[in-house]
Amino acid sequence: MTDARSAVLPHLREILGPRGMLTDPADTAAYAEDWRRLYQGRTAAVLRPATTAELASAVKLCAEAGVPLVPQGGNTSMVGGATPSDDGRELVVSLARLNRIRDLDRIDMTMTAEAGITLQAAQEAAAEADCLLPLSIPSEGTAQIGGILSTNAGGNNTVRYGNAREMVLGLEVVLPDGQVWNGLRRLRKDNTGYALRHLFIGAEGTLGIITAAVLKLVPRPRETEVALAAVASPEAALDLFGRLQSHDAAVVNAFEYMSGAGVGFVLKHIEGAILPLAAPADHYALIELATTRENAGLRSGLETVLEQALATGAITDAVIAESEAQRRALWRLREEHSEAQKREGASIKNDVSVPVSKVPELIRRATAACAALVPGVRPVPFGHIGDGNIHYDVIRPEGGSDAEHSARRDQGSRLVHDLVASLGGSISAEHGLGSMKTEEARRYKSPVEVAALEAIRRALDPKRIMNPRVLF
Ligand code: MLT
Ligand code: ZN
Repeated sequence: MTDARSAVLPHLREILGPRGMLTDPADTAAYAEDWRRLYQGRTAAVLRPATTAELASAVKLCAEAGVPLVPQGGNTSMVGGATPSDDGRELVVSLARLNRIRDLDRIDMTMTAEAGITLQAAQEAAAEADCLLPLSIPSEGTAQIGGILSTNAGGNNTVRYGNAREMVLGLEVVLPDGQVWNGLRRLRKDNTGYALRHLFIGAEGTLGIITAAVLKLVPRPRETEVALAAVASPEAALDLFGRLQSHDAAVVNAFEYMSGAGVGFVLKHIEGAILPLAAPADHYALIELATTRENAGLRSGLETVLEQALATGAITDAVIAESEAQRRALWRLREEHSEAQKREGASIKNDVSVPVSKVPELIRRATAACAALVPGVRPVPFGHIGDGNIHYDVIRPEGGSDAEHSARRDQGSRLVHDLVASLGGSISAEHGLGSMKTEEARRYKSPVEVAALEAIRRALDPKRIMNPRVLF
């Protein structure tokens, strides 16, 4: 252990108390590896502050000693953005004990939540007050608000409510030198210069550590409908999406695409998963509509749109859930995609976005390019087609070697990234850049933009102690 780290550890223990710091490798191991077990690191300590003041003192000490920190929420990152380096230099900061709802106001329609509360617990607190926190991601039972904001997570409801960024009115942040910025404002309008909060959202912990946030709430829906449709093609999925939008855009909560391969893996690996259609298809759309209006005719509207789409051949079959249990079962087919793929074998994950209209072209061209690179690979495009975000995962050939496939990760991703860039898209839509090599991330931004981003980082964290290997 370096002198700097061994010198700060006893002081950190004094600040954080016996429950506030883990140093036994048996306890720290779970924080040093991501959930997909792709990124493995080491750390001398996991700091677990119980208050913002404790965290601020700990950060100040580490900044003075030049000890780098890796903030970590629920450790559900898909891209290794919260895993410490394997040289053991970095200490992990877990926000798990900062997990209170500080305030919920039904007139302001805001919730002030600490960083370590899980998204699901925050959603439940909103529901108790008859409100909705309109952010939903498959890992919401584990993912924490701080991590979600630091990665500007998107998820299933972006098409209606936007990404995490759109839900934030205020933030409290511990800056890289240990100062606390209390920006917990609840204002819907505030044009007093740069919107500082937006710098920290999506910064992946590189500019400071988010400790609490004021989140916007909306009224809780009274009626929800979920349907699964077998669609003829990705183009037909967009045709169906357009029909739903024209019918009543205000009620479209989610519009997701799944391929036959992806649903097949869920049916194969996830206990209890069933396909409630007459026959498997090559393409599916999952639809969720919701409204706060009573007797809004949500169901009959959905039936009309599905019937029209059936008549044109855009869809070949569809089912509408009849109960909450059936709604959950339909969503499981979509939300278990990552888990099912993990069980199927090594995959190269690409979280990309393109203009919505270009999604079919992306899927078609990426599939052809991957097949030409490695015969037998199994592409699984799925995700948030309604906002143009496709998870273009590529699973190793059946019976192939995981190690061989993983060794092609950079090559496979480059292929997809170059295609995405040529379609005017982004190489990270909602997961963040995480451990992606800096050269790869820079390749798709202009030198002007990279210089501006670097200048912002230098200004806030001149010693580069915050998540130093991540971003620019
Ligand atoms: C999802 O939408 O399921 C997540 O972003 C996870 C993933 O891409 O695997
Ligand atoms: Zn997603």
